Amino acid sequence: MSTSSPCRVCDGAVSEFFEFGRQPLADAFLVPGADTSKEFFFRLAVGVCDACTMVQLMEEVPREQMFHETYPYYSSGSAFMRSHFENLAKELLTTEVGGEDPFVVEMGSNDGIFLKALADSGVRHLGIEPSGDVADVAASKGIRVRKSFFEESVAKEVAAQDGQADVIYAANTLSHIDYMDSVLDGVKALLKPSGVFVFEDPYLGDIVTRTSFDQIYDEHVYFFTLRSVQAMAARHGLELVDAERIPVHGGEVRYTVAPAGQRKPSEAVAKLLADEDAQKLGDIATLEGFGRSVLKIRDDLISLLRKLKDEGKRVVAYGATAKSATVTNLCGIGPDLVEFVCDSTVAKQGKLTPGTHIPVREPAAFSQPYPDYALLFAWNHAEEIMAKEQAFRAAGGQWIHYVPDVHVV
Ligand code: SAH
Ligand code: TYD
Ligand code: ZN
Repeated sequence: MSTSSPCRVCDGAVSEFFEFGRQPLADAFLVPGADTSKEFFFRLAVGVCDACTMVQLMEEVPREQMFHETYPYYSSGSAFMRSHFENLAKELLTTEVGGEDPFVVEMGSNDGIFLKALADSGVRHLGIEPSGDVADVAASKGIRVRKSFFEESVAKEVAAQDGQADVIYAANTLSHIDYMDSVLDGVKALLKPSGVFVFEDPYLGDIVTRTSFDQIYDEHVYFFTLRSVQAMAARHGLELVDAERIPVHGGEVRYTVAPAGQRKPSEAVAKLLADEDAQKLGDIATLEGFGRSVLKIRDDLISLLRKLKDEGKRVVAYGATAKSATVTNLCGIGPDLVEFVCDSTVAKQGKLTPGTHIPVREPAAFSQPYPDYALLFAWNHAEEIMAKEQAFRAAGGQWIHYVPDVHVV
């Protein structure tokens, strides 16, 4: 086991603080009957850089193995997230892209959930998205998409063809890209001096506070903080100028980065940095404490599911999230403990969950008949799901949560 490796974003060294062990690719759903001996596994472990405090995976998976023609995550599956992105697009229309012939670039535009509103408003835009099926869905909505990975060479080509961008945006994407030097040099080249790079990703502060350990899987290479983002940006002539905590996906931060010296950092940056220092977010002792909390959740969840099985209760899971691959594989939860997972994504239905091979079924299967317990894998969409599944509670069903701890509601 390696316990130290070079930092991906600075010259420091990364010390490992938690190992999940052998894990599959979190979005690699299997066709029933597939040769499971060919299923890909890697060692999932996380560490923290002793110099820049960036929390990151110890080992990464090659990008083409994760993001390809049949990548099954469709952003528009959540109504709440649709309005989240629409609101941001409207806000940017009144702030950053109000000038003459503005140009917006999004990396990881997926099915077009964010760019749709800008395209409808006639704003010049480009989505850069390597996963073919989701990119096609965006294109079918009238969004301009380039099917490729964002990197320095691509950014320079776009700048040469379309000119520099007023805004470069990335939601739940920057944290997925291990080759950060190329990406940030690309951002620097593609961005107008007056432009901004805005990105939002799961926040380490929330992950530690809520022990939301299932945010850790192959696609999430980095777990950002203001401190680590500030250091990372500075190495590429960029500067963190604003940050805002946002209540999506269990707690994220939206970072605004500009070319160095162009904008005055907001008071929010100083305030959130001070909060991070008080929480000792960059300390390995804090992160080792997080690791102990993960093991407690694992033990409590396994005990609960085994007890319910012994009592003859039916347990079904809700939401075949990428996050849940970490939970089921860490805890050894297979079809013996959870009958099936229901999920609204057509591309996941009829398949088996990665590593643990629990069948995925359509949401209608949930009520035919209702199980005794539902394990909420899509806990970050709890509000939206509770609103549509009120009849389950009314029928006597109970929800099992495991964030921030194992409890039944
Ligand atoms: N922005 C959407 C999608 C997030 S999923 C949302 O917030 O819901 C991450 C997306 O990033 C996937 O669609 C994946 O194909 C894409 N992606 C992965 N690596 C990328 C890269 N190097 N450049 C651009 N997009 C990338
Ligand atoms: P999400 O938590 O957004 O992301 P990740 O896969 O990265 O962990 O995934 C939510 C999953 O839950 C997605 O597969 C769609 C599904 N889902 C439902 O089945 N019903 C719903 O009402 C919602 C909101 C999501
Ligand atoms: Zn570092």
